[in-house]
Parts: sequence; structure tokens; C-alpha cells
Amino acid sequence: MSKVFTITEGLENLGALRTGGQGSVYKGRRMGPMLTAVKLLPTPIYAESEEDKNYLNFRNEVVKLRKVNEEPNPNVVKILSSGITESGSLPYIEMEYIDGPDLCDLLQQPNDKVFTLKEVIRLAYQLAGALAHCHKVGVKHGDIKSNNVKYNAGTGNYILIDFGLAVLTDEERRTSIRHAGAIEFMAPEQHDGLMLPQSDVYSYGIILYEMLTGNVPFPLTGNGETARNNVRLAHIESPVPDLRIARANAMPANWNNEKREQEMQVPHWLLAVINKCLQKRPENRYPSGVELYEDIVSNSFAADTKVNNAALLAENERLQTLVDKLEKSEAEKNKELTAFQNLTQQTAAYYDPQKGMYVRPKSLMLISRGTFTTVVIAALVFMALFSYSFFCKKSAPESIVPVYVKPADFMKPPFMGRAYNYDSVIKAQQAAILKKKAALKPKKAATVAPAKGKQEEKAKKKKRKKFLGIF
Ligand SMILES: Nc1ncnc2c1ncn2[C@@H]1O[C@H](COP(=O)(O)OP(=O)(O)O)[C@@H](O)[C@H]1O
Ligand SMILES: [Mg+2]
Repeated sequence: MSKVFTITEGLENLGALRTGGQGSVYKGRRMGPMLTAVKLLPTPIYAESEEDKNYLNFRNEVVKLRKVNEEPNPNVVKILSSGITESGSLPYIEMEYIDGPDLCDLLQQPNDKVFTLKEVIRLAYQLAGALAHCHKVGVKHGDIKSNNVKYNAGTGNYILIDFGLAVLTDEERRTSIRHAGAIEFMAPEQHDGLMLPQSDVYSYGIILYEMLTGNVPFPLTGNGETARNNVRLAHIESPVPDLRIARANAMPANWNNEKREQEMQVPHWLLAVINKCLQKRPENRYPSGVELYEDIVSNSFAADTKVNNAALLAENERLQTLVDKLEKSEAEKNKELTAFQNLTQQTAAYYDPQKGMYVRPKSLMLISRGTFTTVVIAALVFMALFSYSFFCKKSAPESIVPVYVKPADFMKPPFMGRAYNYDSVIKAQQAAILKKKAALKPKKAATVAPAKGKQEEKAKKKKRKKFLGIF
């Protein structure tokens, strides 16, 4: 046996657990202060006998608590000791101290009005585990409600407490008003004094509904007996108000649209579980916490796999569409590129790395087809007129009377009409001079005069004809 020695004051050494490569690990016992929760039952017990009803209740609670503690469960409160106080003879139960709020307080300010889906699922899983644990050892809780579940802020676990009602027999419960569970959480059959494992299952369903919507499905609206009766009746015969609508109406104002949308996606399996828990007839619910827990575990796993598969398939489909689209656009881009390359070849454009763009050589000018056609037609017309005026030199008739050609006529472009061309005028002038000379001869003088008049007439006509012929 290993040597036992003192480590430090207040820390008792209970012996080595294991010796490893870097030292030994010992079991220690801290002797310092330890926090516990002590529940005192209000009715004194004077005789520890079966005859004393209070003693019987107390003893039963302790027995049940010890039973559910035989095997530890992280979601069921641990009992440490129990007894009767030295002064006042009050029965007490000492439990582990759970540092944190009651579940119902988690829906109060400054917390959000409803739980997130993630937290509801965590709670659903842990609380179903606690119920399964109790029902397995034959303990029905009987008072499942949101202020009998504590949140351990240190571990983040939800812990089921208050096994006070678990101690009563059905007969005792029937006659005990004091011990009646919170009416808003009670299963329909509990109002007849009947408590079944399915009753816990029903109350569990109410808790989940409350966490998802911020309120129980049938809230108590007053303190009077009428209000209580209304709630009782609603549990017995009214359909449960639509959970999704109630959740949508209770969405916290500080949640943005994206979060609200996300938080409205209550998994179908969870809705189905709650629906089954809240059946009016106990036989339509899960027979006990065991089946409830199993269903939650298998459903959430299946849902996870389903979600994953569905998500993968959806992602795959999305990527495939993307690939198709990219391939299509790449083919189109290639086509465009080839066309562009052809165009650059045609226009002699080249890539200027300094400008970072394609440019045309400066020697080339880009003109529109219309302008080009106009220019070509104009050039052709010009050439035609030029040729006409160049090659079709008309000789003036010999009878022509020399005329004075205005300078403006010479300034006209070659294709524009002139009275006569230069050579023909010279020729006409020479001919006229010759005729004048001949006329000076007396013989011919008489005949020349009328001929001259005729020639002048003819020349005028020709001049007019030529002018009209050009235009
Ligand atoms: N183990 C515990 N640790 C811390 N607080 C506790 C513990 N047990 C009970 N409480 C607190 O005391 C309150 C009453 O305890 P409970 O067992 O529910 O008694 P009652 O029968 O009066 O409802 C609980 O709502 C909880 O806030
Ligand atoms: Mg309580």
C-alpha cells in the first residue's frame, strides 16, 4: 500500500491512484467549506413512525431520491444526506448545491423571451435523459415544471429537482391539494388524481412548448377557481395552440430577420415529439421517459443525417449547375475571343501594353460605310464630269461671233459649263476675222450681211443647247 502523507492543511490524502511517468496522482479530500442546498419540510416530525403522515411523506421522498441517486445521472439532483433538525424536528434533505437560475427564470429579462432552437434541443435531450433515468428505477416525478428544473451555470447542464410529489401514493395525491403540481403543466389525468409515467411525459411536452414559445399552451389568467378550472378544462379538451405561430409571435425584438427566419425552422421531429407528448390520452403518448429519450436520440441523429445528406445533395446540385454555367460561358467567351482576334487582324489593331488596350495604327482612319460610299460616289461623279469636259471639246462653228468670256467663267472648275472652250473661241475669232476680211471685198458684201445674221442666230441656239446639255 502506498505511503499516506499530508499534502497541505485542509487537503487530506486518501492514497495514490496511479503512478505515471511524470509523478503520481492521489485521491484527495478537501476539508474546506462545501456548499449544499438543504430542503426543510415545513411539518415537524415528532415520531418516526409509519403512523405519522408527514414522516411517511418525508421518508418516501428520501427513499425515491436515494433510488434515483443509486446510479448517478448528470441531470438529476444529487442527495447528500437527510434527517430531522435538532431544533424544531423538521425533516430536511441535503442536496448538491446547483449554482444557477431555475429554468423559468431563463425566459425572463434580461434573457430572451424564447429559447434558441439549439438550446431547446439541448434541454429536450437532457431532460428526457433525466426522465428516462427516473422511470427506469420506477420513480415518477409528478411535478415536472419549469421551476423544478435548474440550470447549472457551472456545467451548463439542466438538473431535475424537487421529487416532493414523487413520494405520494395515488390515493394520497388524489386527496392532497397542497401537493398538486403546477396546474399549467399537469396532464389531463392528473386532475383525476392519477399519476402515470405518461403524466411526466405530458409535463415535459409543456416545458418544451413553453421554451419554444415563451409561454405554456394554456396559461393561468387569474388566481380564482374559475381560471384554474379553465386551464384544467383546456388540458382535457382544447387543442394545443399552434406552436409555430406562437413562436413567431414571441420572437425577441433584438433578433434580426435572418436569425428569426433561422429560429423559425423548428425541426419536424421536435414538433412531432412535442405533439406526441401533449396527447390528451396517456396511451397515445410515449409510455415513459425511456421511449421518449430513445425517440429523441434516434430522431435527432436521423434528422442530422437527413439534414447532412440533404445538405450535401443540395450543395452538389448547386455546384453542378455552377460548373455547367461556367462551361457554357467559357465556350461563349472562346467564341467571342476568336471573333475578336479576327477583328484585330482585319483592322490591324494590336495590343498596346502601356495603354493596356488594343489600338489601331495611326496611319489608318476609321470612317463609316455611309461616308465612304458618299466619298466614292462624289469622286466618280467628279471623274466622269472631268473626263467629259476634257474629251468632248466642241469646236465652235465658224460663224460664231467672238464673245467676251467673263473671268468668272475661267474660274469655274473644269466640269462646269463654259460658253465655249478656249480653242474653239480662238478658232471662231480667227474665222470671224477671215470673214470680215472677205466681206471687205465689195462683191460679196451684199451676201455676207444676211449670212452673218443667220450665223449669229445659229450660234446663239448652239450656246443654249450646250448649256442645257450639261445640266
Ligand atoms: N439543489 C438545489 N440547489 C440550488 N437551489 C435549489 C436546489 N433545490 C431547490 N432549489 C431552489 O429552491 C426552490 C424550491 O425547491 P423545490 O425542491 O422545488 O421545493 P418546492 O417543493 O417548494 O417546490 C427551487 O425552485 C430552486 O430555486
Ligand atoms: Mg418545486
